[in-house]
Amino acid sequence: MPAPRLYVDSADVDAVSPLLSGSLVHGVTTNPTILERAGRTVADIPELYARWAGEGAREIFFQAWGDDEAALERRAREILALGELAVVKVPATRVGFGVAARLAREGAPVLLTAVFTPAQALAAASCGIRYIAAYLGRMRDAGFDAVGDIARMQAACGDSATEVLAASLRTPDDIVALAEAGVPTFTAAPDVLWAAIAHPATDDAAAVFEASPSLAS
Ligand code: E4P
Repeated sequence: MPAPRLYVDSADVDAVSPLLSGSLVHGVTTNPTILERAGRTVADIPELYARWAGEGAREIFFQAWGDDEAALERRAREILALGELAVVKVPATRVGFGVAARLAREGAPVLLTAVFTPAQALAAASCGIRYIAAYLGRMRDAGFDAVGDIARMQAACGDSATEVLAASLRTPDDIVALAEAGVPTFTAAPDVLWAAIAHPATDDAAAVFEASPSLAS
C-alpha cells in the first residue's frame, strides 16, 4: 500500500495556511459548497490557486460546474489551465463521467467526485481516472456499510492508476478505519485533521518535559 496522504477540505485560507505551511497536508480540496462556506465564489479560484501554490500545496482541487456536457468540460479545462498543481473535480453523473473519461484519456489529472458505489469505482478505474472521492460520512448517513463499501471500491480499483480519496470524514477514527481497509488518501476539514494530529495527552506529556529541571542551564 502506498504511503498515506492527507489533504485539507476547505477554502478558508486562514485555516488552510497553517496546514500547508507546516507541510502537514499534501494539498487542498474544494467544491462549490466549500467555497460558499468560506464566503468565496468561483471568481476566487485563480487567487486561491496562486495562494496555495505559493504556500507549498502539491495538488489543488477545484470542481467544474455546468448544466450540460459542453459547459462542464469548458470549466474543467479552465481549471486545468490554472497550472500543473491543478486537479479538476467532476461529479460522477452520466454527463460528468463522460467529461472525466475524455480528460483522463488526454492524461489530465481528474477526480470523479460523489462516488457512492464500488461499481462506479470500477468504471472510473476502467477509464483511467486518477482519483475517485468516496463520501464516507454521507454513505453512513444513507445507511450504507460505508467502510465496507469503500474497501470494495479500493479492491475494484486494484492495481489500476485510480486512487480512492476518502472524503466526508468526520473523526480521526474514520481516517484510521479506512486506512486499515487499504485506502491511501484522505481529505478532511481542518478541525478533523488537527484532531488527528494532536491529542491532549500528548500536550500533557510535552508540558511535563518542558517543566523538567533538567532543562535549566
Ligand atoms: C468532498 O468533496 C466534500 O467536501 C465532502 O467531504 C462532503 O462531505 P460532508 O458534506 O459530509 O462534509
